[in-house]
Amino acid sequence: MLTDEFGREVSGIRISLTDRCNFDCVYCHNEGLGDTRGPMAPQDEEMSADDVVRILEVVAEFGVDSVKFTGGEPMLREDLEEIIARTPDTMEVSLTTNGTFLPDRAEGLVEAGLERVNVSQDALDPSAFAEVTKSGAYDRVIEGVEAALEAGLDPVKLNMVVFEHTAGYVPEMVDHVADNDGLQLQLIEYMPELTGHPEWNIDIQRVHDWLAEQATAIEHREMHDRKRYWIGGGPSDDSSGMVEIVDPVENPTFCANCHRVRVTHEGYLKGCLNRNDDLRSMGEMTKAEIREAYREVVANRVPYYGEYLVQGENGEWEFNETYLEV
Ligand code: 5AD
Ligand code: SF4
Repeated sequence: MLTDEFGREVSGIRISLTDRCNFDCVYCHNEGLGDTRGPMAPQDEEMSADDVVRILEVVAEFGVDSVKFTGGEPMLREDLEEIIARTPDTMEVSLTTNGTFLPDRAEGLVEAGLERVNVSQDALDPSAFAEVTKSGAYDRVIEGVEAALEAGLDPVKLNMVVFEHTAGYVPEMVDHVADNDGLQLQLIEYMPELTGHPEWNIDIQRVHDWLAEQATAIEHREMHDRKRYWIGGGPSDDSSGMVEIVDPVENPTFCANCHRVRVTHEGYLKGCLNRNDDLRSMGEMTKAEIREAYREVVANRVPYYGEYLVQGENGEWEFNETYLEV
């Protein structure tokens, strides 16, 4: 595995297969590209299945052992099953989806080699769900989660972005996963950049504090420095609910534990979700060129949030040089 200048090994890759989406979530940061295109933008710029597989084969050579496919909505790609089936065997495959197409395709995805899924579900209440996603597909998503569990994906993680519109639904979502075997909850701190609505932010620490009061056990995970809260049981108890908080903005060491590079739907490799200054298109590249680009992007990876940045005299955030020496 390659390691960047901050001692972070790159063990995972997150690939956006399309920026098209059948939802229009009010918080969507469009995988760090910003909400510039709107839903269902044209697909001519998307990488082909061959492009995606070529990238996967190269990063697998470097020991990258997990891939997460994302979007937009990755299930708008008809060739998703093909891409998963052609993913190198050494890689664990997961998917982030809004869930609407899972009722018809969950089984086929598992047959192709899908091992894990994250389904975005921001509320248990259909009208709140519609307000956030601008979609009336609530029932389809519930069916999708069911289908994923039936197809053998276990756990199924529900992704809930916690911000002004959804914060009030946290307690019932926590109960929901505690009451349903196979479900886990991932509470995601709202990232206000690129959404145009910084005022929707809430203090994620309040959610940590509230969960700590409810939890019967708390576990710490190295990946992204996450905390796991267990509700009504503990790590060895299948029937208890597991809740994880992903908080890149407030957690000062989140980026220090980031082990993933990203690829945009157009084939641009990025060292970080929030940085668009190190882009290089790999769609048209040969494997030798991809190897070279991958080495360069990893070498240039810099954490985004946290104490790695200091505010300079001009008010701009600058990279904290002292961290290179540690
Ligand atoms: N803040 C936090 N998470 C976001 N996602 C999209 N936009 C944002 C944002 N502004 C994440 C959610 C969603 C997935 C597709 O992307 O987790 O479930
Ligand atoms: Fe964005 Fe995901 Fe919502 Fe689609 S489902 S609009 S990709 S957050």
